Amino acid sequence: MVAPRVYEALSQPVVGHLDPFFFEISDQVRRLIGHVYSTENDFNLAISGTGSAGMEAAVSNFAEPGRKFALLTNGFFADRIGEMARRQGAEVVRLAKPWGEPFDPQEAREFIRRERPRVAAFVQAETSTGMFNQAKAICEAAREVDALTIADCVTSLGAMPVLVDDNGIDVAYSCTQKGLSCPPGLAPMTVSPRALERLKARPAPPPSWYLDLLLLDTYYVGRKYHHTASATLLYALREGLALAAEEGLENRWERHRRNHLAFVAGIEAMGLRMHVPEGHRLWTLNTPRVPEGVSDALARQYLLEKRGIEIAGGFGPLAGKVFRIGLMGHGSTGKNVLLVLEGLESALRDQGYEPAGDGRAAAEKALAVSA
Ligand SMILES: Cc1ncc(COP(=O)(O)O)c(C=O)c1O
Repeated sequence: MVAPRVYEALSQPVVGHLDPFFFEISDQVRRLIGHVYSTENDFNLAISGTGSAGMEAAVSNFAEPGRKFALLTNGFFADRIGEMARRQGAEVVRLAKPWGEPFDPQEAREFIRRERPRVAAFVQAETSTGMFNQAKAICEAAREVDALTIADCVTSLGAMPVLVDDNGIDVAYSCTQKGLSCPPGLAPMTVSPRALERLKARPAPPPSWYLDLLLLDTYYVGRKYHHTASATLLYALREGLALAAEEGLENRWERHRRNHLAFVAGIEAMGLRMHVPEGHRLWTLNTPRVPEGVSDALARQYLLEKRGIEIAGGFGPLAGKVFRIGLMGHGSTGKNVLLVLEGLESALRDQGYEPAGDGRAAAEKALAVSA
């Protein structure tokens, strides 16, 4: 859901892509990107393009042809990173887990120590499964073998503790349409000084001209034309980032955590189970399992048509097995938790499923306790 202040920002007059005001806003955005990622990195920017453009920028600048690229994958989006790295000519080596199963930190460490890659990549918030992957062990092991780390933070930024510096992540990218409550179209990104050194020492420039980070730096910092970036999307992102900073990152994380826990309390009271084990769940994207005998497609259709609520279904190995319910950014509220639980209960009853208990009451109780 787009925040009302972001909608207002979207209606402001468009200036040129080399206008001094454009660079004033882009400088603010770069500073605020650093804040929301909890990093001291100077090299922050918003790539023109969606989250996948952020992913491609990370991969095309840091994957190297013929060199090892280690992928820790337990979901759809990590596999997309692997596909991009393969297309860059990197030798992709994988540590794969079933969708929604956490990595054992020791196993992750041993994998990286054994493979000694140039880059190790993982998805911090895997939207295909609802799982939060811990960065620390991966980043520590990568440093031991002088590998860079790439973290996909598309569904964590602005909603969960990404903690780039504390975790030692070198390259992180995200999107604007999730935790930051903006429309899609930009990919906020941050790069560590260590990664920047590696980039400058590349024997050949990255194959992608449009996503070449050093060229983009000559635009946003050097003020020289590179492409015609959208002032409108930059206004929106500035507003979305300012909203996060004004709320306070810790308060924002806590809001997401509280609403997620209330949602889970409601789901469990209804007799449903969460797909991801406790302690590894995203606070932004919830994946209750579809109960036996229920069609997830019919339930989603019911919610959309009768309640005006859009939720997603599982795909790949989780097709028909989980619901994917987003409660993020401006949309993560106690009221929305209750609305979606109530709607889901009706949708399930409509298919003859009798909930074990009152989901709404359990969520209300959880919200009251944490208030
Ligand atoms: C974890 C993750 N990575 C990457 C992407 C790709 O982002 P986009 O669809 O904005 O290109 C998504 C999209 O949902 C995602 O959830």
